[in-house]
Parts: sequence; C-alpha cells; structure tokens
Amino acid sequence: MPGGQYQVASIKCHHSLYSLTDSSDVGPEEEEADPPLRLTPLQKLTVDMCKDEKTIKELIIGRRVGFYKVRGEIGYGTFSRVKLAFHALTRDKVALKILDRMRLDAQAQRLLSREISSMESLQHPNVVRLYEVVETPSRLYLVLEYAGGGDLHNRICNEGKLSDSISKITFAQVLSAIKYMHNINIIHRDLKAENVLFTISGCVKVADFGFSTRVSNCNNALDTFCGSPPYAAPELFRDDCYLGPPVDIWAMGVLLFFMVTGTMPFRAETMGKLRRCIMECSYTVPPWVPGPCQRLIKGILKAAPSERYAVDQMLGCDWLLPVEFPWVLVPPEPASPPQSPGSSEPSDQEEVEEEIRGSLEELGVTVEHLRNNQLKDSRSPVTGLYRILLHRAQKRRGCDCLPVVRGMVRDPKREGLRAYRGLRHTSKFCVLS
Ligand code: ADE
Repeated sequence: MPGGQYQVASIKCHHSLYSLTDSSDVGPEEEEADPPLRLTPLQKLTVDMCKDEKTIKELIIGRRVGFYKVRGEIGYGTFSRVKLAFHALTRDKVALKILDRMRLDAQAQRLLSREISSMESLQHPNVVRLYEVVETPSRLYLVLEYAGGGDLHNRICNEGKLSDSISKITFAQVLSAIKYMHNINIIHRDLKAENVLFTISGCVKVADFGFSTRVSNCNNALDTFCGSPPYAAPELFRDDCYLGPPVDIWAMGVLLFFMVTGTMPFRAETMGKLRRCIMECSYTVPPWVPGPCQRLIKGILKAAPSERYAVDQMLGCDWLLPVEFPWVLVPPEPASPPQSPGSSEPSDQEEVEEEIRGSLEELGVTVEHLRNNQLKDSRSPVTGLYRILLHRAQKRRGCDCLPVVRGMVRDPKREGLRAYRGLRHTSKFCVLS
C-alpha cells in the first residue's frame, strides 16, 4: 500500500524515516510539549509528516511521497508510471518515476539497480538528473529532473519533421550527452525519440536509463539485446555479442533520419522484414535532405560497426559546423586538469556551494545534518534537497542554455510530411545467442 511505512498509530518523530533531527531540533523529551514558535521549514515539514493528520493521510494515499507533493500522471513505461510532483520545501517541479516492487522480477530489479547506478554518475545538461530515490515497502520512486516540453516522438508526430536548424540544435545536444556518457563508459542502449525529452525552453534531456550499462572499457563486448527494434543496429540481429558505443551511435543515426524527414529509415510490416531491412542496411535518404546532413546519416548508418562514424567524427562533420556549442555542451575529457589552478578568486564551484549552503540554511538544514549525510546516498531526502538546489544554481549559471546555429539558416517549408504516425516504439531486452 502506498506510504505504508507511515501507518503507525502513534507516530513519534524520532522514529520516522524523515526524522531529520539534530541536537538543535525538537528532542524526544519535548515531544509532548507545544512546538517551538519558530520552526524552520524543514522542522515544520518533518513535524507535519509525523503529526499532521492531513499530511499523514496524503502520505498514505500516495498524494505525498517523502518530501514531494504528487500531482497527475505524465507518462508510463513497461514497469513504471511517471507523475509530476513538487518538492514541498523548494517548490521545484520533479518527475516521479513510480515502480511497483511486486511487479519487479529479478531481471527488472537488476535493470533498475543499473538505472540508478548509471544516473548517479551522470551530471550533464542534456541528461535527465536523478535527485533522489524514495523507497516504501510496496514501491520505489525515482525523483527525476522534470522536462516539461514533451518528447521528440510526440513533437514530430504532431508537428512533422524538424527544420534543419532545429534538427542541428537538437541533435548536437543528444550528441553531447552521448559523448559524455561514453567517456565515462556508460552505454544507454535505448536511445529513441520517445527518450529524448525537452524542457520548456527547448533544452534536450536524454532520459530512461533502464537498459543502460556500465562497461569497464568501451571495447568490452555485450551480449544482451536491448532497445527498440526500429532503432536496433544490424549487429544486434546478426552477432552473438556487440560493442556498446556503435549501438548507441546507430540509434542516433535513426534518430537523425527521423528528425530531418519525419519518417523512420527502416520500416516493415513484420519483425522479420524489419530485421532484414536493418541487416541489409536498406534505407533511402530523401534527395531534399541537405547534402551535409545526408553525408552524416550515411556515415552513421553503416552495417559494419567498425566503419560507422565515431562520436568525434560526428562532432566534426560539415552539417554541425555552424553549431556553436556553449562551453558546457562540450564535455571535458575525463582526465582533464582543473580549470583554474592556484587561483585566489572563489571558483565557480565554490560560489555554487556557498549559494547552496545559504539556501539549505534558510530551509533549516544544519551543518550537522550535512555532516551526517555525505550527499552521496540517493536514498536520503537531504541529498534530494541538495541536488535540486545544486541543479537550480547551475541552471542560473546557464547550464541549460542551447547551442546556437551561426548564420542565416532558412527553415525548409513545413509541408507537413506526416507519413510516420506509428505507435510509440516499445523496447525489448533479451540475451543474444
Ligand atoms: N516522462 C518521463 N520522464 C519524464 C521527465 N523526466 N520529465 C517529464 N516527463 C517525463
């Protein structure tokens, strides 16, 4: 039952999961006394979660989860539903991915652990962030960055193909996210238009790491079929094992084709025919697609993974030449040196940390709370609060700004090529043999 851990007849704050008491908070010996006159927002929330009837009821019926107030449904997946929610203290919107523990078999649990572990190591402007994980006896909740601008699949199905310049801006951001992931040895394995989300301002957010995996080395072979068949690389049908990065890159080729034409490169009525189509690499780029974009698609959609473009070839291609990446979109190599060694000025990071410390203090998070929480454990409400404030501070410094396309780029006529209005693509998972 939702919020099951709150079903305690006599609720004592110091027994609650959300008891964030430190030595300055309301102590057990003061439980029966009136609350202090000026509670911090955090104290008020934790007291409400323990003692306020309305709040407790909301927790029990799932209208509240941890520190989040839950609103309507905004999406769904194979094992999950996604709801809009707000942080009760900061009021930031978040997406709550809800998983029913009873429906998770051993494999789904393994995938979920990988999803959490991948997301915990990802911090990039074009990757959906994980703020917190909330567990109840019956459910697991991933508290995610909210992307309120819908997904690429719906956008193209509703409005037709993207213009050349919007395609460039969108594709460049997906590319930046993939370069970053591959640099830290994370393979997404389920890239598709449905998993490319937009913020209200049009910033791309790659989502759904449910099939992702971390390899110790990008040359390590994988052997599980993951993803959605229309986006699957030929080697997934052909070989017993495959390398991760080229599989993500192939899916980006399919994505690019879909963006600029509004249709999918590989289409067939049956799975067998689709498979043949992909293995034969049989697709036709419409002649009106600009030459530099055609060359990029053809460089990516190559049957042999070794002949397929690598991420850096894509970044340097003619089609993306007019794209000016904001510096944050060009991820540093993992071993890059610190930005400003020996500088006496506070670094940007130090300024951000100071800003967050101030906001946390205003909410009532004390130094002691922080000392008890190393901000690494996703299953802590202090971590969730910290990550939300961190992201807010980074957004204020332009982390979600879009790349710019230099020069006049004429919008192609929106003749509304809407041939591809298929169902959303479902993803699959099976061992190749
Ligand atoms: N649907 C699935 N994940 C989402 C997210 N992070 N933001 C908005 N909608 C979503």
